[in-house]
Amino acid sequence: MPVLRTVRRPREFATRLDSRIESTPLARAFLRAYLAGMARGERYADIGELLLGELFANAVQHSDAPPDRLVEIRFAVVTDRLRLEVHDAGTGHPDLRPSRSPEDEHGRGLLLVDELAERWGCCPRAGGIGKFVWALVAPAPGFTDLAFGRTPKLITV
Ligand SMILES: Nc1ncnc2c1ncn2[C@@H]1O[C@H](COP(=O)(O)OP(=O)(O)OP(=O)(O)O)[C@@H](O)[C@H]1O
Ligand SMILES: [Mg+2]
Repeated sequence: MPVLRTVRRPREFATRLDSRIESTPLARAFLRAYLAGMARGERYADIGELLLGELFANAVQHSDAPPDRLVEIRFAVVTDRLRLEVHDAGTGHPDLRPSRSPEDEHGRGLLLVDELAERWGCCPRAGGIGKFVWALVAPAPGFTDLAFGRTPKLITV
């Protein structure tokens, strides 16, 4: 009698999007759909969408790759953490600049990533050109999955 084995591997998602800023809401929508398809996935939704949006926008705005090179996004939930990856074919690197002046309108996206991600980093793409920026998102504290609701912060008296 054959032995049935359940292979326990994380549910992963990957796709490639046009390298334009208009693709950012689409990237976030893919993440929402991915998280909606798993038990208690909502715990990662708010921070995950925010970080994905910043990393995706950076890949579009700062990559020096030809504009027809697509931006790849990858998601996985592994050991209670959401892992996000954004791949681009450019040569530059994320540059965290905490010493920016208060007048600077830019340079805040990665500060946000650094604040909200549990860990993040940048790696060369295996066997390919370019790199990917990754971030690990911890489940939101105080999240309640009772009827898939959230713990409200707003208190009305
Ligand atoms: N994928 C990337 N490829 C190349 N350079 C990057 C990439 N992501 C970030 N960088 C570099 O890191 C810098 C800081 O990124 P950050 O997101 O903090 O600021 P910004 O994108 O310039 O402005 P903001 O996000 O506040 O609109 C960028 O200005 C850019 O030089
Ligand atoms: Mg940015």
